[in-house]
Amino acid sequence: MNLDHIVRALEGVALPAVAVDLEAFDRNLERHLAMARSHGLTLRFATKSIRVRALIERAHKGKGARGLMAFSMTEAAALAQGGLDDLFVAYPTLQPSAFAQLAELTERGVIVSLAVDSDEAVNQLAALGKARGLALRVVLCIDMSLRALGLHLGVRRSPLRTPQDVIALAERARDLGLVVHGVMGYEAQVAGLGDDSPFDAAPLRLTKRAVRAASMRELAQRRSAIVAELRARGFALAFVNGGGTGSLDLTTTQTGVTEVSAGSGLYKPLLFDAFASPFVRSLEPSCFFALEAVRRPGPNFITCLGGGYVASGAHGPDKLPRPVWPAGLDLTAAEGAGEVQTPLQGESANRITLGSPVLFRHAKAGEVMERFREVLLLREGRIVERVPTYRGEGLCFL
Ligand SMILES: Cc1ncc(COP(=O)(O)O)c(C=O)c1O
Repeated sequence: MNLDHIVRALEGVALPAVAVDLEAFDRNLERHLAMARSHGLTLRFATKSIRVRALIERAHKGKGARGLMAFSMTEAAALAQGGLDDLFVAYPTLQPSAFAQLAELTERGVIVSLAVDSDEAVNQLAALGKARGLALRVVLCIDMSLRALGLHLGVRRSPLRTPQDVIALAERARDLGLVVHGVMGYEAQVAGLGDDSPFDAAPLRLTKRAVRAASMRELAQRRSAIVAELRARGFALAFVNGGGTGSLDLTTTQTGVTEVSAGSGLYKPLLFDAFASPFVRSLEPSCFFALEAVRRPGPNFITCLGGGYVASGAHGPDKLPRPVWPAGLDLTAAEGAGEVQTPLQGESANRITLGSPVLFRHAKAGEVMERFREVLLLREGRIVERVPTYRGEGLCFL
């Protein structure tokens, strides 16, 4: 990967800055869409992994993209305000304000749905729907974790695991006047489990590979049984959603799935360097942030201003950003990525001019956008547009 053209494009730009290389972004976009299309599926982009309206719209226009996976109802309202439709809020909430927004959007004719997995949410939504005379849409969120050898492998999200669990909530929702619009099962222990991480020893990588394979075998049975049972009972599901960037090539082959979700792969942050999947390997980093080199504390050291953009999740070195240009620089063990100062170590530090940029990649996709008001969009080695991030629009959700 030649990053020189990105650095040249940033000449004279106020630092820190975040940039997206549109050519790499568009190639990634087409790789995602081609993967979904080749299995006769559609792609619902996950907005939390993008967090820039212009880039969400760009992805959404792709051939084979359908609907968006939002991460809050307030966000769905903001997207609908911009003319986007078919919005699925994939994370349950019981906030009356979110329910009220769902009702308002539904009343206006927007196709919007909310993930549910509890009687409480179903009861409260149904009461609101009844009071407003609206058929509110819910999507049943299913637990896709793997239970093996007494272990729970995967995320702790939904209690709906068996066909019986799902049918019981689906029927309750229908009886109370809600529309069971779809089903979602996110296999986090596959989509988010890199099996080729440089931070893992070889036996751990093999174990992760085995977990991924065992999970997909188990889900092939359970997911299709759940979907078949729902359809047999007359639930006309608008979609059966699964997957993420890290499982796209596997989830697309599962019976019953009608659409896949992804978002991170458009930027390909560091965490996705840890996957052996040929699909993930085919993706290119498209998002970089640049910090200003401001101090030279000694030979082989350079210190940048800002940079503490550590990713969420269980803490570990894989959640830290990494300097990628110039090559040969590392964070220091003592300071890591600092709130206001990030020292870097390496022989190439000696060749950096103070005031010039150092390029980094973030560990995750959307989160880095919370640190910036605007993104520089690059093409052919120059800035072609500056667009606001969600933060730049004054939008803040979770
Ligand atoms: C429900 C759900 N679907 C899909 C994804 C996949 O997103 P990405 O492709 O950005 O990893 C996520 C990410 O956490 C998720 O929570």
